[in-house]
Formats: sequence, C-alpha cells, structure tokens
Amino acid sequence: MCGIVGYLGKRNAYPVLIKGLKRLEYRGYDSAGVALLTKDGDLRVYKTKGKVADLENFSSDKDTTGTVGIAHTRWATHGEPNSTNAHPHISFTGNLAIIHNGIIENYAVLKKQLQEKGIEFKSNTDTEVLVQLIEYVRTKKNVDLLTAVRIALRSVIGAYAIAILDKNDPDQIIAARKSSPLVVGIGEEEFFLGSDASPIIEYTDKVIYLDDKDIAVIRRGKDVEVVDFNNEKMEHEVTKVDLNLAQIEKGGFPHFMLKEIFEQPDCLKDCMRGRVNVEANNVTLSAIIDYRKHLINPRRIIIVACGTSWHAGLIGKQLIEDFCQIPVEVEYASEFRYSKPVINEQDVVIAISQSGETADTLAAIELAKSKGAFIYGICNAIGSSIPRATNTGSYIHVGPEIGVASTKAFTGQVTVLTMLALALGKERGTIDNVRYSKVLTELNAIPEKMEELLKQGDAIKDISRIFTYAHNFLYLGRGYNYPVALEGALKLKEISYIHAEGYPAAEMKHGPIALIDDEMPVVVVATRNVLYEKVVSNIQEIKARKARVIAIVSEGDETIRKMADSVIELPHTEECLEPLLASIPLQMLAYYIAVAKGKDVDQPRNLAKSVTVE
Ligand code: AGP
Ligand code: GLU
Repeated sequence: MCGIVGYLGKRNAYPVLIKGLKRLEYRGYDSAGVALLTKDGDLRVYKTKGKVADLENFSSDKDTTGTVGIAHTRWATHGEPNSTNAHPHISFTGNLAIIHNGIIENYAVLKKQLQEKGIEFKSNTDTEVLVQLIEYVRTKKNVDLLTAVRIALRSVIGAYAIAILDKNDPDQIIAARKSSPLVVGIGEEEFFLGSDASPIIEYTDKVIYLDDKDIAVIRRGKDVEVVDFNNEKMEHEVTKVDLNLAQIEKGGFPHFMLKEIFEQPDCLKDCMRGRVNVEANNVTLSAIIDYRKHLINPRRIIIVACGTSWHAGLIGKQLIEDFCQIPVEVEYASEFRYSKPVINEQDVVIAISQSGETADTLAAIELAKSKGAFIYGICNAIGSSIPRATNTGSYIHVGPEIGVASTKAFTGQVTVLTMLALALGKERGTIDNVRYSKVLTELNAIPEKMEELLKQGDAIKDISRIFTYAHNFLYLGRGYNYPVALEGALKLKEISYIHAEGYPAAEMKHGPIALIDDEMPVVVVATRNVLYEKVVSNIQEIKARKARVIAIVSEGDETIRKMADSVIELPHTEECLEPLLASIPLQMLAYYIAVAKGKDVDQPRNLAKSVTVE
C-alpha cells in the first residue's frame, strides 16, 4: 500500500533511497526503514516509527555506505506501527532482507507452519512470513534465491510488491509483484526500483512496469531479467516515462481527491481481500470469530461517529437491522459524549472513524466503556488512538486518505459494515441463505461496477459546469439512499462552499419545498427500488417549481430521463449496496463543481483532515 524504493549501481545507495522515500511520502505512512549491503559486506538495517526525516536522524551516526539497498515506507496493516514491525524484515539466518507493500492473506497459516519448524518471528507483520518462508525453502531445498522466491510465492495468497537483498550477494536485488505496483528503472550501469516512477525519474526515464506474478532479477552488469513462477521468461518492453514529478505524486491526477475517488475499486478489493469468499459463500471477519460471545447477541447496537463516518453509520444501521434484527441507534459522537445514555454491558458500541483520532469519537468510546459496553472500531489508520481504545474491530484497509474530503474511506466503511452485517446475520440465523449469497456475490462485484461508473467522469464534469452559479443545493434520497444524499450534500459544501442540504425525499414537503425555485438545483437519488414511484412523484413536484433536477437513476430508466435535466445511470445491484455506487457520482459532482469554481479541493478552507480537538 505504501512505498518501495531500491537501488543497485555505482552511487552510494543511501541518499538515493532516502530521496526516493521522500518522493513517495505523498502516499502517507507510519514508519520507514532501509537495508544496505555496506562496503565491508555487512547487511545493515535501520528502521524507525515516524517520518523519513526520523529515519535520517536515526541513521545519521551509522554506517550508510554501500552501492545496493532497499527502502520502505510502511502503512501498517498487520501489527502496530512501531520500529519492530517497520520494514525491512530479516530472515532467521540473518542473510535476507525484505520489504513488502500489500497484504498476505494466508499469513497466519504459513506462520504457524514455520513456527512448527522452529522458526522464531520477531514482528507481528504478515510480511515477515514471506522472508522466513523464502529462507526456509532456500536452506531446506538448497536452491538459489530466485528458485526459493519462485517456490515460496506459489503458496502465498494476497497482494504484494516485494524486494529482497541477500547479504552474500551484493550484486543482486530480486523483486516481485502481484496486485501491488512495482516499477524497475534502468540507468547507465545502475538500476532503481519504485512503487511508482516518482523515485526513479530524476535519474532515468527508462522503466519496466512489472506485471502480476512477475519476478525481476536485477543483477549488476546484466540486463534485467523477468520470469514467472515457473521460471518462464516474460518479455517486457522498456518504456519511456513522460510524466513530471507533480503529476506522478498524484498518480497523474490533478488532486488527491480525484485520485482517491478513482482508487475506490482497488481499495474495496483490498478491503474485502481475505474476508469475502464467494466460492466458499462466506465472509470472515476475525473480530467476530475472536469475540463471538460479545457480538452475537447484544441488546442493541449504538453507532458513534462524526461527519462522513456518521453517514456510513446510518447505512450500517439499515444493514444491521435488515440482516441481523438487532436494534441500532446512530449518534453523533459529539452529542453522545455529553448525553446521559442508558447503556450497559449488554450493548455493543460501534465507533467509526477514518483517522482514528477524532476527539469526539474517542470521548464517546470512553463514556460507553465506563458503562461497560463492548466497543467495536471501524477505522482506516492502523494503530491510531481509536483502534487502541476499542475492544476489537475491523480495519477498512483503503490506504492513506489525503484529500480532506473523505471519499474512499466512506465506501470502505460501508463495505466493512456490509461484511459485518452479513457475518453477524449468518451467525444469528437472521438472514436467509439465498439473500446472503446474493448480497455476497453482488458485494464482490461492486469494484467492477464502480469501474464502469467511473467511466462517466467526463459526463459528470460537463454536468457540473452548468451548476457553478448555484448558491444552494438540495439532495434527496430515501431508504438506503437517504444517507447518500446527506453525504453528497456534505461533499459539496466542504469543497465548493455552496450551501447544500440532504433530506429524505418525502420530507421535502414538510419544509424545504418552500425553497425550491429555478435557482435551486436538486440532486435526487432515484434508483429502481421499492420507493421508486414515490421518488418519481417528488421529481414531478420539483419540476413543477422549475428547479433543475440531476437524477441518479438505475441503468435504462427512461421515465426519469424524460423528466430530469441531467441523468447519471448506475449499474444494477442489490438495493442495500446501492450507496456504494450512488455515492461515486456525487463525489465527482462535488469535485468538478469545486474545481470549476477554482477552489482548493484537497485542502478546503477551515477544515482539518483529522479533528483532534472538540
Ligand atoms: C469528511 O469529508 C469530513 N472531512 C469529516 O466530516 C470527517 O468525516 C469527520 O471529521 C470524521 O473524521 P474521522 O472519520 O476521521 O473520524
Ligand atoms: N502488510 C504489511 C505490514 O503491515 C505491509 C504494509 C504496507 O503495504 O506498507 O507490514
């Protein structure tokens, strides 16, 4: 998920690696480390929690010589962000060093097998399993490093970009990838590695983009060789990068927010990785396995959160009540913390937070804890304060979110809540098998459908240009799409500074309709579900008052197309999963309107990415 840099050549590797890590800092991370083969043949590993600058401080009085090395910024997925869990990790012989981006799904099984063979682990990471497994295969079978990597990776399930150094071979780096990016840079008698080209383009514009299941052998004085797991040679073009640094840092997107919107299909795959298994018709959340007795039969569930995370909570309420038949309340953490809640040890509190540092949510957790409730966290930032304050939880695994307006964290939170509701519903026997399988299959297909939807970006950009004049916006939705309307309105006001309100569509008549005229655009989420006809009537009422309507509809809806001014079509899915799709065009609409108005989309005025004060 975060950053990999490698160097082999004639320069001192250390400054190249540090500079490269700095180039990758935009990805966000919690710790950093470097492994070098020094002049006197030692393998030196320096790593620390914190920033690359902290790593530099830490290494300032150490031996940083050597012309080959690998370096890493870690965004923890398994194990706290501390210096022991930071990469590189070393094999039990002390000879191999590895860095890894991604998640090893079957690490627990592999770790157990290796421990049974007497191998001791130093960290809590999934990554350490890789280096121990490779070294085990190499020593046991007495094969070379490449063969050991090929054999070991065959039994690894998950996502990885890895780079490996061997203490006894200062002329080689072996790198491999599956589902995580990795680029090899080719200079004059020197080679570079990077998670993207940004650490490389300063030195060379010649790169090889590795494909899934490629293993690259980078050897001093030789051409880069790429093979697959069976040692078949893989042909690779050396391509020319023609991006500038600023473009690369945002993955070619003009803003982090847009990059994060477009990342969502991949993020949701990461979020479901190792948890959703359609073939086995199963969702596995380790928290439910480990804390079954606390979670299976609560008197009720109270969800506490702020802002976008609170909107995800509103969707969670519907999912949990629908699949699990447990009563759910959703509270603003800021209100809950000062209330006198009637709550005890029979209750479960779910705290949702992207940053894991929101002061109000933390205070709400403390209050609920003091009353004896069991606390389940849904967070993105690993090892942040909220996961540490909860009894258990599930990370959303969508990678660092840098844009202040939350996008991928929202869909990640809704995905975890869906998995939680499915898993609990199955355990409790409150969801029938046919529905369970249907929702599970559809959930698994969401990333693909999101990809389709994202292709409408240009159309949404065109629509947004019409609306920069507006001073007010109304967003309407019903059922599962009511929180989507709230979230759409929040996105617009946060980044474009246009006043926007979200309402349940039927509430329009009880007040907001007074505001509707030809200067008040109305966004209506009107997918084909049980309340469709009623929402169609709402659209008629709006049109009768001359407002422009932007309708988010199900694919092929001709009825609303005839009534609305602009229409964005969503691929079909289960009604309970529609928020995952419907929120995408609303994110894009807000983004393009704000850009058209010349606003600072990534850092809107007055807002902070993590609200650590009341
Ligand atoms: C989202 O776009 C906002 N910036 C904000 O509402 C945010 O969701 C809220 O502050 C909660 O943050 P958290 O998820 O990090 O706890
Ligand atoms: N899963 C690994 C860990 O937690 C790698 C995380 C990353 O991609 O930075 O250490």
